Amino acid sequence: MKLELEHTLSFIGPEAMKMYETQVATTYNTIYEKTGAGNDFLGWVNLPTEIDESLLSDLEKTAATLRAKSDIFVVVGIGGSYLGARAVIEALQNHFAPLSGERPLIVYAGHNMSEDYLTELLAILDTKDYSLAVISKSGTTTEPAIAFRILKQHIIHKYGEQEAASRIVAITDKARGALKQLANVKGYKTYIVPDDVGGRFSVLTPVGLLPIAVAGIDIRELVAGAIEMEKMCKSNPTLNGNIVSEYAVVRHILYGLGKTNEIMVNYEPRLVYFSEWWKQLFGESHGKQHKGIFPASVTFSTDLHSMGQYIQDGLRNLFETVISVEQSNHELRIPMEDEDLDQLNYIAGKRISEVNHKAELGTMLAHEDGGVPVLRIVIPEVSAKVIGQLIYFFEMACAVSGYMLEVNPFDQPGVEAYKKNMFALLGKKGYEAQTEALSKRLGGI
Ligand code: PA5
Repeated sequence: MKLELEHTLSFIGPEAMKMYETQVATTYNTIYEKTGAGNDFLGWVNLPTEIDESLLSDLEKTAATLRAKSDIFVVVGIGGSYLGARAVIEALQNHFAPLSGERPLIVYAGHNMSEDYLTELLAILDTKDYSLAVISKSGTTTEPAIAFRILKQHIIHKYGEQEAASRIVAITDKARGALKQLANVKGYKTYIVPDDVGGRFSVLTPVGLLPIAVAGIDIRELVAGAIEMEKMCKSNPTLNGNIVSEYAVVRHILYGLGKTNEIMVNYEPRLVYFSEWWKQLFGESHGKQHKGIFPASVTFSTDLHSMGQYIQDGLRNLFETVISVEQSNHELRIPMEDEDLDQLNYIAGKRISEVNHKAELGTMLAHEDGGVPVLRIVIPEVSAKVIGQLIYFFEMACAVSGYMLEVNPFDQPGVEAYKKNMFALLGKKGYEAQTEALSKRLGGI
């Protein structure tokens, strides 16, 4: 995998990056020596190389058992407790997994509070064999807790207490939280989320690895990719020749130039959820103290026919980070037609990916002309190993650029505001003062 910056350097000047050499080296030191803000959440830094063989084998064994008895596997979680797994699974599974006959089909719950969504899910689960993982580090998050209460009743009703318990895996904190107590009482198989790994950095813990393994993806390859990137960063914790640092510095410079929105661009729809994971990683890590780049995402060429207009001609506060895939997993060529009524014979014989690459190049040049700097992360293919590399790449880049922004990249104090209001509006015990204040504000609840 490589990072190409030539469509960015014209915006920031060739010398701009040099000024950050010392700061980058100091920042790595802060991370590796654990001396910065949020330093008790740096467990992800050595996680790939330190993953226990016995944990991997155990996850594979559990996954095999669940796969054998499930048409559907439900991943119950929100934010960092589901996005990593979904990003990897959707990147690597068949686009038409629900129709392809591959089983189990991985579906998600607890990431919304839609009554319709849950009702329709239950209707499907009535007719299929299923198992589930309930994932919550805190063990107290409302969305997955509600979904799990409903699914727990459903699965017990369907299979009886004992068999239901064998179809439920809980992934949570080692001691704290309602989910841990519940799992203990009910005797569920349980995996621990390490204390020092925050939700959005937890994809390479059982949080991500169990669902990914249940989906039939090689978790060892995923981890192997992350190990490569971990070692690369450790062997060269500088700006020179380290693509993680280069990415962090370039986006920092662009931010200083008023490019406050970063758009993650893909030309492969299998990467849509990878962008969702990336948005959470950077949005939740950097968006604080009224600072931070707003992370957005598009899929091209699809969105060239919608958001493309804005990117080309709208407010010039944007830059793009393109994930460019060199090699497709399949080969399909545009056929020749004698009549050529649709006038496509000029590209007959070409692979679809060749046309897609030309769209990518043409778009990049157009956006550069339109005042949008474009960074390119070129990956050879979409495989478990490469996705593992990308995961660690962005995790470390997020930490480095978070410290450069002078925020704590590992907390999320802003997430509490909506929860307090929601609990107050629902009349939860302990929120009486807030309920009264909101009642006054709204003229009654
Ligand atoms: O990154 C984070 O910490 C959050 O996005 C959490 O993952 C999310 O809020 C879910 O939390 P929990 O796993 O405690 O249910």
